[in-house]
Amino acid sequence: MQTPRLLIRDFCDADAEDAFELYSDDEVNRGIMGTAPSSVEQMRENLRAVRGKYADLNGMGVWAVELCDARKMIGTCLLKPLPNSEKVEIGWHLNRAFWGYGFATEFASAALHYGFETLMLDRIYAILFEWNLRSWNVAVRIGLKHQGQTNEFHNQTLELFVAAREEYLRSKV
Ligand SMILES: CC(C)(COP(=O)(O)OP(=O)(O)OC[C@H]1O[C@@H](n2cnc3c(N)ncnc32)[C@H](O)[C@@H]1OP(=O)(O)O)[C@@H](O)C(=O)NCCC(=O)NCCS
Repeated sequence: MQTPRLLIRDFCDADAEDAFELYSDDEVNRGIMGTAPSSVEQMRENLRAVRGKYADLNGMGVWAVELCDARKMIGTCLLKPLPNSEKVEIGWHLNRAFWGYGFATEFASAALHYGFETLMLDRIYAILFEWNLRSWNVAVRIGLKHQGQTNEFHNQTLELFVAAREEYLRSKV
């Protein structure tokens, strides 16, 4: 997928250094319950595993977000089933150096559009920690509605957001 400033594409081995930079940041990992990779090489292996795991997921996946002008991988975009659920989750991870420019809103909007227009999904969900206001703002900006709290995922109390296809298509008219 292409947006005005970004390319959303599969990961490649050459993304390992940029991905290492992204996932070595405790502030990013705090929002996604992640742990920092131990080395660029381990990051490369993780990216290969992600590519394999989501290669055949009916068009869903976990993708690299590249800033076209800089040819740098600055984030990750995902559209995939939530754990042990048929609900499909949208997610966004962005290198902290690139916060505050609307990049997450830009790629998340494109992923939502793809989920509804191409994959024909009925509902798309997001889950996030209550304290994660930046993420909360992205969810609202792209049109997700807050549903309240859920304990269904990751053994955590999380805020649940949802967008419905019919409503999304109506809002585009
Ligand atoms: C969540 C996360 C992606 C949000 O990043 P972000 O930079 O705040 O979000 P955006 O890229 O959409 O940028 C929005 C900001 O850019 C500003 N902005 C500038 N140009 C803009 C544009 N063209 N469109 C929208 N916003 C724009 C907005 O006003 C907003 O600024 P503010 O922070 O002062 O309100 C980032 O904090 C992150 O990666 N966190 C760690 C991972 C995480 O927690 N993910 C959520 C769980 S899935």
